Amino acid sequence: MTRISLTVDGMSVTDDVEPRTLLVHYLREVLGKTGTVVGCDTSNCGACTVHLNGTSVKSCNVLAVQADGGEVTTIEGLSRNGELHPVQEAFRECHGLQCGFCTPGMIMQATDLLRENPHPSEQEIRLGLEGNLCRCTGYHNIVRAVQYAAEHADAPAEATAGGAQ
Ligand code: FES
Ligand code: FES
Repeated sequence: MTRISLTVDGMSVTDDVEPRTLLVHYLREVLGKTGTVVGCDTSNCGACTVHLNGTSVKSCNVLAVQADGGEVTTIEGLSRNGELHPVQEAFRECHGLQCGFCTPGMIMQATDLLRENPHPSEQEIRLGLEGNLCRCTGYHNIVRAVQYAAEHADAPAEATAGGAQ
């Protein structure tokens, strides 16, 4: 076992984990952060996307030990004081989801996309989300949601509990 200490959604945590433990499994099974979901076993779907030190990562593709000393933000750390994050609000407003399974990863990826490029074109949004799969929506309302977030928030860069940039 290896001891790791990190910040998750603004909370400091320390745990002993097996070196092979994936970050997504640590988040879900040790910390109970089940808002981050597993949609594949091939690192293709993006449903497990979280932010690690301010950048989106597929948490099924990262070992928990690699997050040691870092800051992780999950979908559960995006809202503040009961207020949805602007990107969450945009997905709600634009009906950017159906079953919702892909949604946590989509929102985390979209948030990072907007941090890097606050006013993306439709093409840039589609490219930025290409690692996140949705089997329900046809992507149109997801793209609209990201456009809406860009239009309605001057700085949609995350205001996360985890303090990620
Ligand atoms: S569960 Fe991580 S990419 Fe699918
Ligand atoms: S809303 Fe169902 S997978 Fe995207």
